[in-house]
Amino acid sequence: MARVICIANQKGGVGKTTTTVNLAASLTTLSKRVLIIDLDPQGNASSGLGIKRHENHENNIYQVLIGEKTIQEATQNTQVEGLKIVPANPDLVGAEIELVDMSQREYRLKNAIALVANQYDFVLIDCPPSLGLLTVNALSGANTFLVPLQCEYYALEGLSQLLNTAGLIKKSLNPELKIEGIVLTMFDQRNNLSHQVVSEIRTHFGDKVFESVIPRNVRLSEAPSHGQTIIEYDSKSPGAKAYKELARELVERSAPKQRTQNQQVQQQSAPQQAQTQSNTETSLETPIAREPEANV
Ligand SMILES: Nc1ncnc2c1ncn2[C@@H]1O[C@H](COP(=O)(O)OP(=O)(O)OP(=O)(O)O)[C@@H](O)[C@H]1O
Ligand SMILES: [Mg+2]
Repeated sequence: MARVICIANQKGGVGKTTTTVNLAASLTTLSKRVLIIDLDPQGNASSGLGIKRHENHENNIYQVLIGEKTIQEATQNTQVEGLKIVPANPDLVGAEIELVDMSQREYRLKNAIALVANQYDFVLIDCPPSLGLLTVNALSGANTFLVPLQCEYYALEGLSQLLNTAGLIKKSLNPELKIEGIVLTMFDQRNNLSHQVVSEIRTHFGDKVFESVIPRNVRLSEAPSHGQTIIEYDSKSPGAKAYKELARELVERSAPKQRTQNQQVQQQSAPQQAQTQSNTETSLETPIAREPEANV
């Protein structure tokens, strides 16, 4: 069953799409089957993967959300083996309004993903830069959410709002929701501020921050204009190496935890099991509840 990860930050231009596309491509190099859901009307993940506008005007995530197409009909292959996408186009702007009166409006995406979840190892959802109904659908349908943070002065601006929204969704719509982690993006080795931001965020969020840091790398910004991921465009670039490292970390982080939990469950008596579960939940909830300072 796929792990469904929503890539979210309502702040614009922090690296959500770049992370979605290149993390997905990197996961395929580890033999994972990946589906990207482009949930942003800008359609950047779609165009970055070489999907042309005319190829997706009838088969896209908007059609799926309003019930005109099935997710299977809207899913397209990409040039990357093992990577598929449900593309988006500007029609998706209308979904924010049209969904309001529909039944199960917060669960439309979750219901669609459920139909194909057994065909993938990972489903990555690229969110728009807002906390509207589209992002609510993503957070309601995901197992976890991953937050890209740009290494700049205002890195934490708006983060408390995102964490509060995730906390509310966890309470009311998706009790299983957990934070996957924070990915630091556009790190500039020569810039003191970048180093400061990394250390501040690690102090605030501890092991919720991925070890892999994505450098500012011009190859990452060039790749989408060729309709390619960084793995195809320049697999030896520092950006490609960083995203491959991130993919490895993501896979490793979830695997041993699952194994340890399974082993513990087998060995423990019932009261001990309950204790372990409640500890795990508390530690995963902490970052959601915390109010970070507005600025670093
Ligand atoms: N590590 C990086 N190095 C250099 N450029 C980058 C890097 N990450 C992202 N960019 C560039 O920064 C811009 C914003 O990145 P991206 O589109 O991934 O952000 P986003 O959070 O998805 O934006 P939006 O909120 O508009 O959806 C793009 O032009 C992208 O090519
Ligand atoms: Mg984007």
